[in-house]
Amino acid sequence: MSIYEGNYPVSRLRRTRMSPVLRSMVRETELAVNDFIYPLFAVPGTKVKKEISSMPGVYQMSVDEIVRECVDVHGMGIPAVIFFGIPPQKDAVGSEAYDEHGIVQTALRAVKKEVPELYLITDVCMCEYTSHGHCGIVKGDEIVNDASVELLTKEALTHAQAGADMVAPSDMFDGRVGAIRRVLDANGFTNLPIMSYAAKYASGFYGPFREAAESTPQFGDRRSHQMDPANSDEALREVAQDIREGADIVMVKPALSYLDIIRRVKDEFHMPTAAYNVSGEYSLIKAAAAKGWVDGERVMMEVLTSIKRAGADMILTYFAKEAAAILKKR
Ligand code: PBG
Repeated sequence: MSIYEGNYPVSRLRRTRMSPVLRSMVRETELAVNDFIYPLFAVPGTKVKKEISSMPGVYQMSVDEIVRECVDVHGMGIPAVIFFGIPPQKDAVGSEAYDEHGIVQTALRAVKKEVPELYLITDVCMCEYTSHGHCGIVKGDEIVNDASVELLTKEALTHAQAGADMVAPSDMFDGRVGAIRRVLDANGFTNLPIMSYAAKYASGFYGPFREAAESTPQFGDRRSHQMDPANSDEALREVAQDIREGADIVMVKPALSYLDIIRRVKDEFHMPTAAYNVSGEYSLIKAAAAKGWVDGERVMMEVLTSIKRAGADMILTYFAKEAAAILKKR
């Protein structure tokens, strides 16, 4: 007889659920504040703190406000942030992305100075910096791979030089992790880790982010480089390739419609695994909670727990501060 075969009434599964104490003792997954990475959107100017209309509670902030926010985030025990930058000018080759005085580079230097203990990650991509909103260089209707990768290596290097503790390429071009690794190593950053957006899907759940990062493609879409939501084996090939190229942490993105992918990646590779609880996943909960249709806090904690249960070691989430506050109260 298998132990999974029912043996009622000798066996009663409800017994371990009867008291809060016992429920907490048998709990398999426990969220912790140090699971969270908090995304921040840097914009030019001073004293700018502009709420993103589709993401209540999330702001575009100038560097001075970002510094203030980072002091706060660090004080709450959240270990890490990830920076996105919205430059004053965009052009066809995203020049501001790899400018040593670019918006993210400036934010890095300012935050490193004020909050040296906070772990600073940068999103490495061109889409916020190009006039056409694509993640790299465009020729005709093709988003070019190799020439774009070269620009991404320049972007990653300027981030490292400005004080980034880790870089996170989010473009999904082929060969970019290896190329970034080589450039970092050649410039003395052998110990700087890469978190690759390894299995990143072409997802409708990025909608609100594109308002936040002002990165909506002006034509076409991202389906020639981001993955088809219907595929799962392909995600393993993507992750395997990034690990071979030197990725230290692999990410699955989005999280909720891809919990199965998180689990497969964790089981297959046993690597430090991150999941990105993306903008649309945040906004859906915020909108339903505002209408009183769901209990926002409860659903938030349930969702974050499910991502960790699926196998994520860390979660990039706009909920980080709210969830940290709840965990602290418990
Ligand atoms: C690309 C990038 C995107 C997100 C993170 N990095 C957008 C995209 O691929 O179009 C989405 C994050 C979110 O939706 O919260 N720089």
